[in-house]
This record gives sequence, C-alpha cells and structure tokens, in this order.
Amino acid sequence: MKVLITGAGGFLGRALTRLLIARGDAVIAFDTALGVLAAEFAEDERFVPCPGDITDMANVAQAMLTYRPVAVIHCAAIVGVASSLGSPTLVMRVNVEGSLNVMEAMRLAGTPRLLHISSEEVYGPFLADVIDETHPLDPIMPYGISKAAVERLGRTYRALHGIEVIHLRTSWVFGTELPRNRIPKNLLDAAIAGVPLHLSCGAQTAIDHTYIDDFACGALQALDLPRHPYDVYNLSSGRSATLTEIIGHIRELIPQADLSVGPGAYRFNDQVEAVRKGALDIGRARETFGFNPAFDIRAGLHAYIDAKRARP
Ligand SMILES: NC(=O)c1ccc[n+]([C@@H]2O[C@H](COP(=O)([O-])OP(=O)(O)OC[C@H]3O[C@@H](n4cnc5c(N)ncnc54)[C@H](O)[C@@H]3O)[C@@H](O)[C@H]2O)c1
Repeated sequence: MKVLITGAGGFLGRALTRLLIARGDAVIAFDTALGVLAAEFAEDERFVPCPGDITDMANVAQAMLTYRPVAVIHCAAIVGVASSLGSPTLVMRVNVEGSLNVMEAMRLAGTPRLLHISSEEVYGPFLADVIDETHPLDPIMPYGISKAAVERLGRTYRALHGIEVIHLRTSWVFGTELPRNRIPKNLLDAAIAGVPLHLSCGAQTAIDHTYIDDFACGALQALDLPRHPYDVYNLSSGRSATLTEIIGHIRELIPQADLSVGPGAYRFNDQVEAVRKGALDIGRARETFGFNPAFDIRAGLHAYIDAKRARP
C-alpha cells in the first residue's frame, strides 16, 4: 500500500511512518521539515521524502498527482490549544485552508480515502466524565474550532466528491518524541533527570492520555478497514487520570521523583485554563476495527521511562 502522510516529520506522523514501513508499505512523507525521519530512512526505497507546504495548493496537488497514493493520513497542523492562542490566523490558514488543499488535491487525483487526525478539542467542555462521538461539538479555542471545521468540510467532500474522509478524534497523546512541554512528559522528564517540578495547578483535572504506540496501532487499524460505517471515531486510552494520580504513578516508578501539583483546573503554560475534560468512550473504534489499547496510564508512563532511558 502507498500512503501519503502529511506532517510525516511530526510526533504522530513519525510513529505512523515507522509502523507502515516496518510492515512493508510505502510512505510518501509530506512535510515542511522531515527532521530525523529523512536520515532514519535515507537508505529505504519505501520512504519517499516529499518536502512541501499544505498551504501551497501547487505543492499538495503535485505530490498527490505524482505519487497517487491509495490513502492519505493527514497529520500536518499547527497543534495544541496553547499555540493556537498566539496565532489564530496561522492556525486557520494551516489547519483549515491546508486541509482543504489536501482534500481538493485528492479530488483532482482521485485519491479515495483520507484519515484526518482530529482532536478531542472539537468537543469543547465535556458534559460528562466519559463521552462518545455523539457528544455535542462546542469548541471554544481556535485549535478545536479549526479541527471541527475540517470535520465538517470532510463531510462535504464525502457527500459531493465521494472521498471517504474519516476523522480520528484522539486525546492527549504522549511519548518521548512529543515536541511540546506538556503533562505528563514534563513530569516524566523531570523525574528521570532527577530535578524537581512543581505545577501550580491542575491536581483534580482528569484527562485521557494515550500512549503513542496505541494511537499508531489504532490509526493503522482504521486505515486497513475496507469500509467504514462511521466517519468519526474516538481513539484514546478510553480512561482518564487526574494529575494527582499520574504523579502517584510516577513516584511509584521513580521513587526519588520530586513532583507536586497545586489545586484547581489545569492551565496551559500556566495561563489558559483547560475546559472540563474526561475520558473518551472508545467503544465504536473497538467494535468497528478492533481497537484495543494496550497501555493504561501506568503502563504508558512505564513505557515512556523505558524508552527515554534507552535513548536519552
Ligand atoms: N499529539 C497530540 O496529543 C494530538 C492530540 C490530538 C490531535 N492531534 C493531531 O495530530 C496531528 C499531528 O500532531 P503531532 O502531535 O504529530 O504534531 P507535530 O507538531 O509534532 O507535527 C505536525 C507536523 O506538521 C508539520 N506541518 C505544520 N505546518 C505544515 C504545513 N503548512 N505544511 C506541511 N507540514 C506542516 C510540522 O512540520 C510537523 O512535522 C495534528 O493534526 C494534531 O492536531 C495531536
């Protein structure tokens, strides 16, 4: 199978590229910057570096028409609530206009399937501790609004042009290559380095954290399903953990860890308060394509520590 991955050089794109190539598929790696991937697969003919910008329609159309992939996994975006606040115009340009370019290029090339990596941020404040895909979409930050807009536009491309656009709403994915200073990565890195870290707030905020390997396996299961009965799936661990619980787990795994968290809601970069969160119900992904995450929060933290110590 020949798959084009936008944002292949990023955190999730890299994990997907590695899995696809390991099982014998070819990857057209589209990104403005491929970083470590380019060197990692320099000798592998199944890896095709394709530098380009999704906001440039000519770049995207050329890639799609030249390589004619059977599917696209669309990861390229300006990512995260915090980064979207400082640059909402850029977020809309890259996330919405860039996604439109991808869908439009697919229409031109006749590419049948798009897997868009969406986000739980499309839901806005969770109305319950566990929510499924029927929960109302009420995003309040530019990042979530951009992702919800892409979901709606995906439906238009499906209805008008027959492209099968599937949205995977994932939660907070973590792994050693996460490029953002975010929980639980910052806590784990501090504990491993033996330095104290005290977060001013967020003790009771419960968030569904997904370990990178589970995300990547689930996304490929969705990619492999011949026909999808739904166009949107939650893809996460299916369980939430509070920061207090996470710190407790890290202390068990690294007894000398000097970590603490203050009360109140979690704030991005200590500034913007996160909306009410919880767990994503993953029953639909489980029943439809057999998604079965292997890492609960403790196992994910453990795997992170092992991976970090193996490759500091
Ligand atoms: N990591 C998470 O926790 C998480 C959670 C929910 C959803 N997502 C979604 O998953 C996708 C991947 O996220 P990530 O964590 O790998 O982010 P990342 O920042 O590591 O990767 C994004 C990649 O997109 C590329 N990119 C940015 N603008 C581009 C442009 N104009 N043209 C081409 N490439 C461009 C970047 O160079 C980068 O390699 C994003 O769509 C994100 O919204 C991520």
